[in-house]
Amino acid sequence: MNQKQLISRAFLLAVVGGLGWLCLGPLGADARQNEPAPKKTPIQLFMRKKLEATQKLMEGLAIEDYELIGQGARQLEGISAAADFAVVKEALYTQHADEFRRTVAKIQKGAKEKRLDSAALGYMDMTMSCIECHKFVRNMLITDK
Ligand code: HEC
Repeated sequence: MNQKQLISRAFLLAVVGGLGWLCLGPLGADARQNEPAPKKTPIQLFMRKKLEATQKLMEGLAIEDYELIGQGARQLEGISAAADFAVVKEALYTQHADEFRRTVAKIQKGAKEKRLDSAALGYMDMTMSCIECHKFVRNMLITDK
């Protein structure tokens, strides 16, 4: 690379970096930090825990750590039992909750048998189950109003 190319590349980097700072710095993180955090309901807090456990699971799958996969799945099992207890019993919701537990059991089985593909498939089923239940919940909230 000659000097001219180097300088133009450095200039480009500076522009991109500056733009990034403009978007993420003053407008993004800083502004958001000053807003008061909206109060979370118990179910929302449970769900945040679910999200954390899901990340642990993903890590376990990525590095083939069956201990971590098992840990994440056990946490999800516990959280979903507690979270669903806090939700009004409704037949279709219960169906979604059951489906979710079934996918978690599939991941646990995969981890126990040290079968990465089964655990990974279970993880994909579980992701779909998160999304399906949320779709259902959103529709319910809309029709309730
Ligand atoms: C059986 C139904 C069901 C399943 C399955 C489910 N959720 Fe939820 N989820 C809910 C409900 C109900 C809410 C709360 C909606 C509300 O009140 O805002 C919610 C909200 C959330 C939120 C938003 C919380 C907040 O701070 O507002 C996250 C994040 C979330 N869920 C993650 C997950 C993840 C990740 C999974 C799968 C691993 C999952 N959920 C599976 C029912 C479910």
